Order: sequence, then structure tokens, then C-alpha cells
Amino acid sequence: MSAPALEVQDLHAYYGESHVLQGVDLVVRPGEAVALIGRNGAGKTTTISAIAGFLRPRQGTVRINGRNLTGAPAHWVARAGVALVPQGRRIFGDLSVRENLAIAGRPAANGWDEARVVELFPSLGRRLGLRGDQLSGGEQQMLAVGRALMRNPSLLLLDEPSEGLAPMLVEEVGETLVRLRATGLPLLLVEQNLGLATRVGQRVHVMNKGTIVFTGTPVELAAARDVEARYLGV
Ligand SMILES: Nc1ncnc2c1ncn2[C@@H]1O[C@H](COP(=O)(O)OP(=O)(O)O)[C@@H](O)[C@H]1O
Ligand SMILES: [Mg+2]
Repeated sequence: MSAPALEVQDLHAYYGESHVLQGVDLVVRPGEAVALIGRNGAGKTTTISAIAGFLRPRQGTVRINGRNLTGAPAHWVARAGVALVPQGRRIFGDLSVRENLAIAGRPAANGWDEARVVELFPSLGRRLGLRGDQLSGGEQQMLAVGRALMRNPSLLLLDEPSEGLAPMLVEEVGETLVRLRATGLPLLLVEQNLGLATRVGQRVHVMNKGTIVFTGTPVELAAARDVEARYLGV
């Protein structure tokens, strides 16, 4: 069996003296879409930061495709094939859609390019000449995902793509992520939106106060009413 796309074991991380991640374990297998769910402040973004190399964990390991990249700087992790769609999207508002995609590009044979991104997001194709800040929130989210894909990643991390989007646009993002999942690209989707997380994730991890309190399929989570009530406020 090939190594997991992502394997996080017993991860601990701090902001100063504040012990935020208190032993996080999670796995994304090859070709798998996994959701990490939890309330605001649970430690989801901190987990992403520790994986992506923005925050150095104090204990535990992060392996990408079998390579130990614990504590490696962000540009190493990126070169190892990890792409991040950050919380708040952070596209370049004063560059065109086409330029936003082009500057992210890291060409690969048979990989993602502008044409393939536009195939996944047809509405972006009609807006290639517009500036990033002329797009709607939903389109900006598509551009942020498209930009990450232009890096031809082997693992995609998405931090709350539904944030700030109207329900209809959340639907649209969900549909896109399901199509992206079908390409076989391993995904780690961080979400507060339970509906989106369980639609996209083949397995879900629930996080509370810096630890994983539940791991299972969306069906198993739906059956675990106590988990939903205690940690997700459903
Ligand atoms: N840069 C920071 N400095 C200090 N504390 C932080 C910082 N970022 C987040 N925190 C704290 O760490 C905890 C986890 O935050 P975060 O990972 O952003 O949660 P989530 O993404 O699940 O909403 C929260 O208590 C938050 O207040
Ligand atoms: Mg967050």
C-alpha cells in the first residue's frame, strides 16, 4: 500500500505559552477527501498552519506522501506538493483573473493549466480579463482554488471555503469540490459548515480544543448525535 498523502501524528503547537494543538492525529489516504470540522477557535487553522509550515509544531510529526516534513519551512512543504487555499481567500485584487492564475503556475506534464481550471470553473473562463476585486465572493473562492491547482499539488488543503458565502454559493462550492474529488486529488477540507463538510468528505474528523474527538464516515457522524450536539452545536 502506498503512503498516505498526509499523516499527522500527535501534533502539538503553541502560540507563545498558549497550548493550542494538544495531540492531533489525522490521515488523508491517496485519492481521499477528508473533512476537518469544528467550531470557531477549535484549532483548525492552526492545524493547517502547522502542516503547511507556517507554524513550527513543538511535538509530533507531519508526513506528506511518506516524507517527514515536520517543522519544515513553508516553501519546502509547497515544493513537496502541498497547496493551500487559505482562509479569507487572499487573491490579488488588483491583478486580473488570468494573471492570478499565471503567477501561481508550476507547470507539470498533463497537469493543471488555465484551460483545465476554466473547464472546472466555467464562470471564471468568462471573467479572465476582470480584476480579482471585481469578482463575487463565490468567484473569488473559485479563483483561490484554481490558483492552488495551478501549482499542480499532490495534496490540497482548503481552509473554510464556505466562509462569508451565501447558501447558494456554498452549494456551488460543494459541487465543485465533489468534482475535484473525482479527479483523485487528495483533499483536506477544513469547515465549520457541517453540510458542506459531510458532502465533500469521505471521512470526517471533528476537532475540539486542539484534539480530534471523532473520526468516521459522514454516516457514522450522523448517527453519533452526542458528537454533533456537544462539539458542533447541531
Ligand atoms: N496568532 C495567534 N496568536 C495567538 N492565539 C491565536 C492565534 N491564532 C489563533 N489563536 C488562538 O488559537 C485557538 C485556535 O485558533 P484557530 O486555529 O484559528 O481556530 P479555528 O480555525 O478552528 O477557528 C483560538 O483560541 C485562537 O484564539
Ligand atoms: Mg480558522
